[in-house]
Amino acid sequence: MFTLPKLPYGYDALEPVISRRTMEFHHDKHHGAYVKKTNELLEKAGTSARSLEEVIHDAATGGDKTLFNNAAQAWNHAFFWAAMTPTAEQPNAALAKAIEKAFGSLDKLKETFVKDGAEHFGSGWAWLVADRSGALSVRTTHDADDTLTKTDIVPLLVCDLWEHAYYLDHQNDRKGFLEAWFERLPHWDFAAYQLAAAKGQGELWRYPAPVAATEQRRAGAR
Ligand code: FE2
Repeated sequence: MFTLPKLPYGYDALEPVISRRTMEFHHDKHHGAYVKKTNELLEKAGTSARSLEEVIHDAATGGDKTLFNNAAQAWNHAFFWAAMTPTAEQPNAALAKAIEKAFGSLDKLKETFVKDGAEHFGSGWAWLVADRSGALSVRTTHDADDTLTKTDIVPLLVCDLWEHAYYLDHQNDRKGFLEAWFERLPHWDFAAYQLAAAKGQGELWRYPAPVAATEQRRAGAR
């Protein structure tokens, strides 16, 4: 079974952009429910534990929309927590160069990211992605749709565009949320790590392995 990953920082660490109250609901209730439902669906189907990445790929190709929605939302949220930090960071040299090449400057990237996220119709996600050559772009996806099942791109950062992500703190001002988010919360070191991995230098971020598989590996290592 899959577990709900703990936040890599305190519930109040991302204030004032994201309040403790939002984080408690968002992580414990919303994300928790997606993980729980994914486990229930897998158990009902009698499927043995695999990686969440494999579950998502198989659900997408097999047309299992309910499993895909829950598993992809479990993955997207874990990636979202991992791609934020309370410590103000700046892109490293390699990432700054890629940003300059694709957008002209970090400010221009912000402009594109905020505009695309604010104009995205309905629920979804705003992503900074790289292709396998390291070229960057901004994408938005609807509802649970992810970047994992798009083989030509790798996610570097993501911002949740569902109302539950910002409504308690910013009400209907999604644009204001995105602007504050981009200014304060991107984990640029994480994004740089993902960019290197996209080009074959290192491993891409993965969702924590299911508990049974972890135990099996431990047993095998003894
Ligand atoms: Fe969310």
